[in-house]
Amino acid sequence: MEGMKLKRWLVSVLFLIVATVSNAAGAFVGVNIGTDVTDLPSASNVVAILKAHQITHVRLYNANEHMLRALSNTGIEVIVGVTDEEILGIGESASVAAAWISKNVAAYMPSTNITAISVGSEVLTSVPNVAPVLVPAMNHLHTALVASNLNFRIKVSTPLSMDIISRPFPPSTATFNSSWNSTIYQLLQFLKNTNSSYMLNAYPYYGYTKGDGIFPIEYALFSPLSPVKQIVDPNTLFHYNSMFEAMVDATYYAIEAFNFNNIPIVVTETGWPSFGGANEPDASTKNAETYNNNLIMRVLNGSGPPSQPKIAINTYLYELFNEDKRKGPISERNWGVFYANGSSVYSLSFSAANMSNANSLGSFCVAKDDADTDKLQAGLSWACGQGQANCVAIQPGRPCYSPNNVKSHASYAYNDYFQKMHNAGGTCDFDGTATKTTEDPSYGSCIYAGSANASIGGRSSSSTALGLGPVSPIGASLNLQVSPLQYLTSFISVILALVLS
Ligand SMILES: *[C@@H]1O[C@H](CO)[C@@H](O)[C@H](O)[C@H]1NC(C)=O
Ligand SMILES: *[C@@H]1O[C@H](CO)[C@@H](O)[C@H](O)[C@H]1NC(C)=O
Ligand SMILES: *[C@@H]1O[C@H](CO)[C@@H](O)[C@H](O)[C@H]1NC(C)=O
Ligand SMILES: *[C@@H]1O[C@H](CO)[C@@H](O)[C@H](O)[C@H]1NC(C)=O
Ligand SMILES: *[C@@H]1O[C@H](CO)[C@@H](O)[C@H](O)[C@H]1NC(C)=O
Ligand SMILES: *[C@@H]1O[C@H](CO)[C@@H](O)[C@H](O)[C@H]1NC(C)=O
Ligand SMILES: *[C@@H]1O[C@H](CO)[C@@H](O)[C@H](O)[C@H]1NC(C)=O
Ligand SMILES: *[C@@H]1O[C@H](CO)[C@@H](O)[C@H](O)[C@H]1NC(C)=O
Repeated sequence: MEGMKLKRWLVSVLFLIVATVSNAAGAFVGVNIGTDVTDLPSASNVVAILKAHQITHVRLYNANEHMLRALSNTGIEVIVGVTDEEILGIGESASVAAAWISKNVAAYMPSTNITAISVGSEVLTSVPNVAPVLVPAMNHLHTALVASNLNFRIKVSTPLSMDIISRPFPPSTATFNSSWNSTIYQLLQFLKNTNSSYMLNAYPYYGYTKGDGIFPIEYALFSPLSPVKQIVDPNTLFHYNSMFEAMVDATYYAIEAFNFNNIPIVVTETGWPSFGGANEPDASTKNAETYNNNLIMRVLNGSGPPSQPKIAINTYLYELFNEDKRKGPISERNWGVFYANGSSVYSLSFSAANMSNANSLGSFCVAKDDADTDKLQAGLSWACGQGQANCVAIQPGRPCYSPNNVKSHASYAYNDYFQKMHNAGGTCDFDGTATKTTEDPSYGSCIYAGSANASIGGRSSSSTALGLGPVSPIGASLNLQVSPLQYLTSFISVILALVLS
């Protein structure tokens, strides 16, 4: 029993080291452009909106010529879509495939940077009768790309729903629904042979709402989980900080069960609706804002899910605009992040550099100048303990240790807590000892969370214990100047966390 806990703890620490070493370069969040919109802006206005928000990757559901032309010479990378209706013809005829490539892809290259073709949309679950021609269609398209000498630049894949994985939790035992065995096998073989990615549509919104209360909402929204609510895979002992990561990992394990490896996953759709009907209370602006901002932060941190820490989870948000013409429940028409006039439905930033500006007024939380020292000490202990702030940087020898006083350490810890928690309702108060400021408190090599400079200097120093629940309070509390009573309290809470988790 105790050995088991210790092992879990050690595995977490080991994983942490691996994750910290992994390279963050190149991770991106793009966006899907659905067009069932009454007042759809012109293609050039859509592109202007993309540029204004520094969006570098898009996925189209078809090969609309106006969009493909408007995207030329923008540097934006584009996935073009083969519609479900087109698959049959392409699957049955190599020359139809060649004509499709010539008209919809080759004609725009290289000025439009097409990097992938997505064949259909969740074909296995939405139009299963097309399944037998799916991989043949992909093969025909790939052959046509080879003939045009475009196969090294453009990859062919097909976005699949999480629904083809029968039991996604625990991730380590996930397998594809065996009714699709032969199609999945052919598909994985194709992806492997052509160095293409597996395209996954992963929706924690549905996982959460269909779970009927099994999962805490924090788990769906990437918000910090209290130790008692941590989700751990009993076989691997990996901690899952979000349902999104668990879904991606379940897919990696399902692929592995077919004895394929090194097929990276790209998430072609994920998101959260900002509005829904009376029976859809979780579709809210607050949840959508929390989910999408946390998602972007998570993806841009560059690490993969627990089983594949070195493979970034590149992701396309669903979706650019609310598609008011779609059928179904009210939430179905409210997944968009921008209005047609380009203003955002809620505050959202696609770029790591803009993250601190995302809520520009009062974006840092620091200790007040005249705060009582004992209260500051209590606030500091709480932030680094129960509050799960990452306090590594204020340990001796670390960049924010000096000046070694309670106020400076409290500022660092308060801010780290606040940056992680304010989307989930965390406040900047600490018994009246904290205040918000727009001025970046970073100095020298001490970079505060949320600083515009964090993506350059802060990554390695701030990465150490993020989100590891029971682990961070130990490391954080041991070296701080806390009273014996406070020390004992944190120690007991750590033991409790280990026993309860
Ligand atoms: C991001 O920052 C740049 C410059 O720092 C600014 O021009 C741009 O408007 C910002 N974008 C968003 C979406 O806030
Ligand atoms: C197109 O995208 C690829 C893949 O990221 C990149 O290497 C290349 O530089 C881009 N080309 C242009 C013209 O932007
Ligand atoms: C597997 O897929 C089949 C065919 O779509 C479906 O009838 C069945 O319910 C699925 N099984 C599971 C366990 O999801
Ligand atoms: C599908 O594949 C799995 C894993 O390889 C295997 O265990 C299962 O028996 C297969 N099912 C069918 C119906 O072929
Ligand atoms: C796939 O990648 C391998 C190794 O990087 C390379 O040798 C091979 O040519 C690539 N194949 C295709 C079809 O891109
Ligand atoms: C953009 O459209 C939305 C929704 O119609 C509206 O609430 C908002 O005020 C508009 N913004 C601007 C700048 O016109
Ligand atoms: C951020 O980096 C820039 C350029 O290196 C530097 O001029 C600026 O002072 C830094 N800001 C802070 C708050 O450290
Ligand atoms: C990225 O996020 C993961 C999962 O939350 C975390 O374990 C890891 O420490 C983070 N890495 C960095 C470099 O911030």
